[in-house]
Amino acid sequence: MATILVTGATGFIGGHLVPALLDAGHRVRCLTRDPSKLDDAPWRDRVQVARGDVTDWLSLELAMDGVDRAVYLVHGMDASPAELVRRELEMARTFRDAAERAGLDQLVYLGGLTDDDVVTTMSPHMYARYQAGVELRQGAVPTVELRAAIVLGAGSASFEMLRAAGRLPLMVAPPWSRTRCQPIAVDDVVAYLVDTLGRDDLGTRIVEIGGPDVLTYREMGQRYLEVAGARWRPTVPLLWSPPEASAPAVSWLSGVDQDLVLPLLTSARRDAVVEDDAARDLYDIEPVGFDTAVRRALAEEVHR
Ligand SMILES: NC(=O)c1ccc[n+]([C@@H]2O[C@H](COP(=O)([O-])OP(=O)(O)OC[C@H]3O[C@@H](n4cnc5c(N)ncnc54)[C@H](OP(=O)(O)O)[C@@H]3O)[C@@H](O)[C@H]2O)c1
Repeated sequence: MATILVTGATGFIGGHLVPALLDAGHRVRCLTRDPSKLDDAPWRDRVQVARGDVTDWLSLELAMDGVDRAVYLVHGMDASPAELVRRELEMARTFRDAAERAGLDQLVYLGGLTDDDVVTTMSPHMYARYQAGVELRQGAVPTVELRAAIVLGAGSASFEMLRAAGRLPLMVAPPWSRTRCQPIAVDDVVAYLVDTLGRDDLGTRIVEIGGPDVLTYREMGQRYLEVAGARWRPTVPLLWSPPEASAPAVSWLSGVDQDLVLPLLTSARRDAVVEDDAARDLYDIEPVGFDTAVRRALAEEVHR
């Protein structure tokens, strides 16, 4: 069993990952800029908490002392596109170098599902995620980058946007609603992360992960309505819907911060589908389909 540093433990994925790592028998140290954010976490008494910032190498050095492996779940989108890329690169480099100095056995990064061939035309948000992976993988510490598209679970920004679309009296179909996506349930992402963090045979590599369903955004909206038991509603095609124009309304409807909505809408113009299915051979995990993932997310909300 290992001591694992979890960055982003106050976030959506990290909040699901920490209890799973504890259940798997690992010791967990959470890195956060504000430890009080973890005060209400049900697992707070079972973890160590390190105050730190991935832009601050000294805080990372202290946080990584005695740690075997680290998972990088850092996400900050409250910046202009150029600043976002610059900052993500700086954060990834600082983290990579600190991990190297601390002699960690492994880094695991959860990035976005994207095609390396389209790097020049990615949204700034996807490009920043992509480049963070490039930086992390360049270090001496074996680094696994798991790449996922939309992660479905209560509290995920993407899921809350889907839920908000389901509250409208009409289904709107912007031009990018034909973009294809391969969503995955948060429990399955956590299963891949936990499995990866227990292994030494993976070296440095990229692994694309996704659920069994490849759906357009329009199909996702329709399937969501069916699973949520909502009544049928007509679909209105929108011929023009730039993310900048729709982001304020989507943010207002979903309660998701506009800084997060805009890059997610911009990234939705590109397919996010698993092209390399090596995960099937590398892991013994059978991800659940879209409907089950939505059902679980809705149930989780009820029990919160
Ligand atoms: N959610 C999805 O649908 C999805 C899909 C694919 C990939 N991913 C990837 O999964 C990762 C986590 O996503 P998420 O949805 O869980 O994000 P999230 O809920 O927005 O959480 C972001 C986390 O980043 C931490 N953070 C931000 N700036 C930091 C800094 N300077 N130093 C230290 N920590 C910092 C925050 O911690 P504090 O504020 O406590 O410091 C927070 O816990 C991201 O890399 C994302 O690209 C997510």
